[in-house]
Amino acid sequence: MSLSQTDILNALRQVQEPELHKDLVTLNMIRELTLDGGDVRFTVMLTTPACPLRGQIQEEARQAVLKVPGVKTVEVKLGAEVNKDNRLSDNKALPAGVKNIIAVASGKGGVGKSTTAVNLAVALQQSGARVGLIDADIYGPNIPMMMGISEKERPAVNAEEQLVPFEHYGVKVMSIGFLVDPGKPIIWRGPMLHGVIRQFLGSVQWGDLDYLIVDLPPGTGDASLSLVQSVPLTGAVIVTTPQAVALSDVRRSIAMFKEVRVPILGLVENMAGLECPHCHKTVELYEGGGGAVLSREFDVPLLGQVPFDPSIGHSGDAGKPIVLSQPESAQAKAFRKTAEWVAARVSVLNAGAESPLIQIS
Ligand SMILES: Nc1ncnc2c1ncn2[C@@H]1O[C@H](COP(=O)(O)OP(=O)(O)O)[C@@H](O)[C@H]1O
Ligand SMILES: [Mg+2]
Repeated sequence: MSLSQTDILNALRQVQEPELHKDLVTLNMIRELTLDGGDVRFTVMLTTPACPLRGQIQEEARQAVLKVPGVKTVEVKLGAEVNKDNRLSDNKALPAGVKNIIAVASGKGGVGKSTTAVNLAVALQQSGARVGLIDADIYGPNIPMMMGISEKERPAVNAEEQLVPFEHYGVKVMSIGFLVDPGKPIIWRGPMLHGVIRQFLGSVQWGDLDYLIVDLPPGTGDASLSLVQSVPLTGAVIVTTPQAVALSDVRRSIAMFKEVRVPILGLVENMAGLECPHCHKTVELYEGGGGAVLSREFDVPLLGQVPFDPSIGHSGDAGKPIVLSQPESAQAKAFRKTAEWVAARVSVLNAGAESPLIQIS
């Protein structure tokens, strides 16, 4: 009896998507299945190109099909189609092409929020996703500088009167700083901010984006609250440092997102240890292990730990995020891993999978 597509699909029904807890066939992830005698080819369509478990899924699919009697060779390609946050589909004020909006937040300034935002954006772009980045930090908009765009530049306006974002390193960039005179201090008030952030979202020519990353102002003041309320966020990534003193700020941040019902995708612990240039051992800079403490306390994942490295500062100043300037460094690896887990958490959330994202009681 000759091999049929059904035989192959039945074998693939035995392979689970490790995060969505359903099999690849039920999840409609098997595409372009072709049989040529005993030679089988198909594509596994992932829910994000940055899937951290893509290698595992690919191998398990291959092994499952190899076991089918009559199969000689198996070629498994990977594709990706990022799923959309339904709440964004329901919101007519938002650009239709934006699938997910992810906020990067912190309890206080100076912990590496913007550094994390730019590196996440570029790492997601490198994985093959379409990415936009908004600097919404009204206190110190420095994303353009970190992305190698002069703060003096002003965005063009297209025929539909939309702002055209800058595009650098494959990422579309817009900043609240573009809308004000450089060097002129401004006082933003809540209602004004609502308007500005809506303008960003509604009248920027974003095109199709899998992920739009928003660098929020630090803390939980009026400005932050106003911003998180005016945008339907898919989820938030919270950046902290290991010191215990940072923890109370982070607790307030988590409480704020809970209040406005934005899921916490997870925590990033930045400046977590320093590699000794001589013995290559990691030295703890601060006692406390803040990321792990908070992760347990709030039942949110610790998505990544990024070591301290002075060259992060240099690369930020030079306008080139470290995932580009030093892709093999420990920091770049940590940011790439973090980006993968952020993407995976978004996929799980959008698939409505049962694993609850956050339970703060
Ligand atoms: N892991 C790190 N190692 C060394 N310096 C870092 C690291 N992360 C951030 N920095 C530096 O710390 C400063 C604050 O980072 P930034 O991302 O601007 O913080 P925030 O946006 O939270 O205010 C910057 O000078 C940045 O280059
Ligand atoms: Mg910043």
